[in-house]
Amino acid sequence: NTQSNQAIQTKIFGHRGYPAKFPENSLAGFRYVVAHQIDGVEFDVHLTSDHIPVIMHDETIDRTTDGTGRIVDYTLAELRQFKLSNGESIPTLDELLDVFENKDVWINLEFKTDNIAYQDIEKIVMPMVNQHQLLHPVIYSSFNLQTLKNCMQLDATQDYNWLTENDVPKAQEFVKKERLHGIHPHHYQATTATQRVWTVNDDQEAQQLFEKNVAGIFTNRFEDMVQLRKNVQI
Ligand code: G3P
Ligand code: MG
Repeated sequence: NTQSNQAIQTKIFGHRGYPAKFPENSLAGFRYVVAHQIDGVEFDVHLTSDHIPVIMHDETIDRTTDGTGRIVDYTLAELRQFKLSNGESIPTLDELLDVFENKDVWINLEFKTDNIAYQDIEKIVMPMVNQHQLLHPVIYSSFNLQTLKNCMQLDATQDYNWLTENDVPKAQEFVKKERLHGIHPHHYQATTATQRVWTVNDDQEAQQLFEKNVAGIFTNRFEDMVQLRKNVQI
């Protein structure tokens, strides 16, 4: 019934856009989810050799484009010749943020600095975000705690979240000490009601997280999860 559904606060985030239906981290995927009133989106950011933020999950373009090599070794102009499976170029952050302007969508920007510590990525990305007309504050995350600390130096008021696959003993103390907003745990580690959990593609698992009323789930199957959430009673 509608009343119990309204009690569920869990926001559904499109993980890398909508990879069940579109190439991951493609503009087509993000445009679709925004047009279909998703709660939020998650995407991953790297820097080209000429320091332009672009959207891709891996450090290399091999898995998701027709090219090979590392993003960090290409200029944007060079990178643009390679195509995703739907023929799109790799999106820049600036282009992607245009899609979200004046839309009621929460944005989780993940700094992909866990393997390559892109120099000054925070100083390049954060002012770029501020140049766009976004209706909600951006949620920042990274597996690299130092990246989040660098962001805090630039703007202490934003929502910073540490990504981890590991159990964090005394998570609340850790969050407080590091002045984070929270932890974005792997789904195996989801325990408290304050977290956004990745990556939740299994119905039963999603149902349990809706029942726990976690803050958010990141999923590749956004429309299925919206349906599922409608039927959960809490
Ligand atoms: O931000 C949640 C999730 O995207 C973290 O893992 O590897 O999919 O970027 P990954
Ligand atoms: Mg990610």
